[in-house]
Amino acid sequence: MERIKDKIAIITGSARGIGFSIAEMFAAEGATVIILDLNAEAVDEAVQKLVNLGYKADGFTGNVTKSEDMETAFNAVTAKYSKIDILVNNAGITKDNLLLRMKEEEWDAVIAVNLRGTFICTQKAFKVMMKQRSGSIINIASVIGLMGNAGQANYAATKGGMIAFTKSCAKEFAPRNIRVNAVAPGFIQTEMTAKLPPEVVESYGKAIPLGKMGLPSDVAKLCLFFAGDDSAYITGQTLAVDGGLTMY
Ligand code: NAI
Repeated sequence: MERIKDKIAIITGSARGIGFSIAEMFAAEGATVIILDLNAEAVDEAVQKLVNLGYKADGFTGNVTKSEDMETAFNAVTAKYSKIDILVNNAGITKDNLLLRMKEEEWDAVIAVNLRGTFICTQKAFKVMMKQRSGSIINIASVIGLMGNAGQANYAATKGGMIAFTKSCAKEFAPRNIRVNAVAPGFIQTEMTAKLPPEVVESYGKAIPLGKMGLPSDVAKLCLFFAGDDSAYITGQTLAVDGGLTMY
């Protein structure tokens, strides 16, 4: 089934991990996906993988924290495809440290990518979507933004901030028929979580009612729901995909 056929979907940070999985699923459901990431080689590789599968994919290199990069990328997408139907704000980083030891650079870097990047891309997409009077924006938050985590105060602040940002944009954009929702993944197997020590992974496994880490495709399935018409009457929501870890 092609649930988002002929839609134009920009996914930030999609050269790998959860972002790539979202791109792959969206492409399989008929969308043209735009891979937007930091490294040109990684972007080309990701686009090529999707094209080899027979999907429609295009790529742009840029840093979500840089307004001029995003201006160039979003303008190029709009010039080429005449519209932007879906934006997934997925690019995100961690720089973990206990608060006492946290350097200001660690705080600033995480705020810059996760929050400022989300703001910049949302604003650029909204300018296009408001004219078409349609669109779906999905912000990849985290369960850490709901429940906090020792050693991740910077990351938790950004993810909690993204949830509040989601609600505000949902209210602001609703009159233009643009929906904004957030997805809060729990512990998902990617390069980001591969950095975690084995004992931490094991302890989380015990805390998760479904007893295991999730897969990037588990997150992608929820994004697909928020991207398409199956969620046409849903906006401003945050839904966790976390094996039951939070149950908010
Ligand atoms: P990842 O580290 O595997 O991939 C992140 C991608 O974002 C990379 O391709 C990277 O190059 C790109 N990126 C980083 N900074 C960027 C920037 N300034 N501009 C453009 N692209 C940039 O991470 P993963 O695990 O796939 O995470 C994706 C999102 O999901 C993040 O927002 C993360 O916070 C969130 N998340 C991940 C969880 C997990 O368990 N892996 C759990 C909860 C949320």
